[in-house]
Amino acid sequence: MKNIVILISGSGSNMAAIVQAAQREDWPRRLGARVSAVISNRDDAPGLAFAQTQGIATAVVDHKAFSNHANPREAFDAALMAEIDGHQPALVVLAGFMRILTSGFVAHYQDRLINIHPSLLPAFAGLNTHQRAIDAGCQFAGATVHRVTAELDHGPILAQAVVPVLPDDTAQSLAARVLSQEHLIYPRVIRELL
Ligand code: GAR
Repeated sequence: MKNIVILISGSGSNMAAIVQAAQREDWPRRLGARVSAVISNRDDAPGLAFAQTQGIATAVVDHKAFSNHANPREAFDAALMAEIDGHQPALVVLAGFMRILTSGFVAHYQDRLINIHPSLLPAFAGLNTHQRAIDAGCQFAGATVHRVTAELDHGPILAQAVVPVLPDDTAQSLAARVLSQEHLIYPRVIRELL
């Protein structure tokens, strides 16, 4: 069985969309794959409760617990890798995981690490993507699924979804329109990779 490990920091709606696609499409039987764990860097991430109701193993590796280390990022990533590797993942899926990962982490999961970003990369890497798209006068926005490389929000593009930016859009309304498309393209990419 190919194990999928999903990393979240917040609501986990992309994670839930992947879990539901796996159930609906019977990934264990048809792809020999299952979501084996959901790991968060925050113990208050709402997505953890959903994963638990689905019988999926959950874990928290709290980045704040490493702030006293000489190199907090390296120490956090080492602990995170140990937790992930316990599940021998075929694929590690970043789904609203809001930590910047070290190059060592990225190299360790080379060819097994993917991310979803709420913009049409290479435009608007980083944060506040929807407000930046509105401020720039973009007529279209969207989301990108990409392989993760050491450079933030870069890496080969696997899929994109495009939505219109409407005249009265706020960052919130645009985010909701983009997110509904994220829920479609992320499970699709994972199914194709597996
Ligand atoms: C999603 O819009 C995702 O693209 C974004 O965070 C949101 C998480 O929502 N990710 C990033 O901004 C990563 N840089 P979710 O927790 O409901 O899936």
